Amino acid sequence: MSIFLVVGASGTVGTELSRLLAQAGHTVRKATSRAPTQPDQVLFDLTTGQGREAALAGADAAFLLSPPGHTRQHELLNPLIDAARAQGLRKLVLMTAMGANADEASPLRQAERHLEQSGLAFNIIRPNWFMQNFNSYWLPGIQAQGQILLPTGNAKGSFIDARDIAAVAAALLVSNRFDGQDFDLTGPEALDHDQVAALLSQAAGKPIGYQDIAPEALRGTLLGAGLPADYVEFLLLILGFFKAGHAERVTDAVQAITGQAPRTVAQYAADYRAAWA
Ligand SMILES: NC(=O)c1ccc[n+]([C@@H]2O[C@H](COP(=O)([O-])OP(=O)(O)OC[C@H]3O[C@@H](n4cnc5c(N)ncnc54)[C@H](OP(=O)(O)O)[C@@H]3O)[C@@H](O)[C@H]2O)c1
Repeated sequence: MSIFLVVGASGTVGTELSRLLAQAGHTVRKATSRAPTQPDQVLFDLTTGQGREAALAGADAAFLLSPPGHTRQHELLNPLIDAARAQGLRKLVLMTAMGANADEASPLRQAERHLEQSGLAFNIIRPNWFMQNFNSYWLPGIQAQGQILLPTGNAKGSFIDARDIAAVAAALLVSNRFDGQDFDLTGPEALDHDQVAALLSQAAGKPIGYQDIAPEALRGTLLGAGLPADYVEFLLLILGFFKAGHAERVTDAVQAITGQAPRTVAQYAADYRAAWA
């Protein structure tokens, strides 16, 4: 059995990843930037480095991500990668995002490259847009107007269930079979937002629609919700990539790594229907 540090352990992917690793009998060290309240939590703040060495000490491997809200992700992740090597960790699994490697100069790609060149065993996973955004980030629009409000036209996305991302991360952490490889993670099919809205409506038992909005309208909403201006521009940029069709590709990576087919949007909607009901 191994000791795994999970960065983002209280988040959408990290909660499920921690559960899967603990269920398999491993020791999970759950990093948090807030004051720990549970014995399995450890204080670690990516933005300041506070707690970094103690969080890594004695761990066999770690799962890394850069929290939402930050646009210079390499500045958060590279010192952690360096510290993991210095502490003798066996392996790191880094989650970035599908498309992160399209631009070698992008901050996420710089973190990926730093890991690739670190000499550590590693995997990089690049998930497509999460299905869970519909019960979190996009939920206020659905609740207030019965609409998914996004500037994505009628482009399709191969949305992935965060539970499948966690299953992939767990498999990669415990095995060296795929060491040194990177994977784009998607769901099993590409759907546009009208099709997603129809599936959410069916599961929730009430009408949910989709409205293609102007990027400027979303900018106002996101700034009004208090998101940092540079992160809002980053989100609008990647939603533009979605609209241009770059989120449509379907890969078989979830099946290849976990042996299980990824969940469909219909399965996700059924499991989360309480969120919209
Ligand atoms: N949503 C999508 O569609 C999508 C698609 C592709 C990739 N991604 C990537 O997924 C990642 C987000 O994953 P998620 O949705 O699972 O996370 P999440 O639910 O947004 O949770 C963020 C996590 O980061 C931790 N955190 C926040 N500030 C921190 C800090 N200063 N130091 C250390 N930890 C900190 C939080 O824990 P505490 O509050 O306890 O510190 C929390 O566990 C991002 O890198 C994003 O780019 C998202």
